[in-house]
Amino acid sequence: MSADTFDFLRVQRELAGKNPRAILKTALSLFDRIAIAFSGAEDVALVDLAAQLKPGVTVFTLDTGRLPPETYRLIETVRERYPIHLEILCPEASALERLVNEKGLFSFYRDGHQECCGIRKVEPLRRKLSGLDAWITGQRRDQNPTRQDLAEVEIDSVFSTPEHSLVKFNPLANWSSAQVWDYIEAYGVPYNELHRKGYRSIGCEPCTRAILPHQQEREGRWWWEEAGKKECGLHAGNLRADKAEEPHPRD
Ligand code: ADX
Ligand code: SF4
Repeated sequence: MSADTFDFLRVQRELAGKNPRAILKTALSLFDRIAIAFSGAEDVALVDLAAQLKPGVTVFTLDTGRLPPETYRLIETVRERYPIHLEILCPEASALERLVNEKGLFSFYRDGHQECCGIRKVEPLRRKLSGLDAWITGQRRDQNPTRQDLAEVEIDSVFSTPEHSLVKFNPLANWSSAQVWDYIEAYGVPYNELHRKGYRSIGCEPCTRAILPHQQEREGRWWWEEAGKKECGLHAGNLRADKAEEPHPRD
């Protein structure tokens, strides 16, 4: 199916409140040109579920070049353990060389993270998504205030083009962090060693730090920036002011 012939409102209604397995099953059965975005954190639970539902499923990781060693190790463990097609996507070399030669290796502390994320994550993601009809992410509502209205399925407002609509599934939307961790422990799913060291949300090494038990999950990401801006371009649609006006299956 292509995203343009997809009965979005019907599927959105059907998936409202559903568990990750049911959402993934629907996503994988509706679309052939579909892939899972795997960050190397607790979204490994999604990969575990999807590998059972559709052996050979495509999973991709945006290798920013700045991921922590623990994340690279988990990605390799996942590649060896699961019957998946894992793609590692790299930034475009000339744009990256220009950035680091003009502004240095840590420009994000001074200029904000958008420019570096734009080159290291968003451009490779856009390239990958241009060949897909749908993608699957590990976002959850409980991760951040910017994600509290996250739907199980949405039309991707950032990466769709006038010629090509793109559907985005968020199978973990209804699960809490505790449910994800119950799943990882119950089924012996491999996980990122940083989670043992006080890290909850994990991104690039220079932009992620451990948090204290009472802190909100994403306080350790881009900690020098305002909480309300803690989305990189991957999920910038979560910041749209008019998002609350989109049709929602619970309305
Ligand atoms: S981020 O936008 O702030 O970096 P977050 O770390 O919360 O995102 O992860 C949410 C989801 O975005 C992940 O479950 C995954 O689907 C996708 N994602 C984030 N970082 C990457 C990455 N480096 N490679 C692939 N997917 C990613
Ligand atoms: Fe660059 Fe930090 Fe964004 Fe990684 S998270 S791409 S290092 S700004």
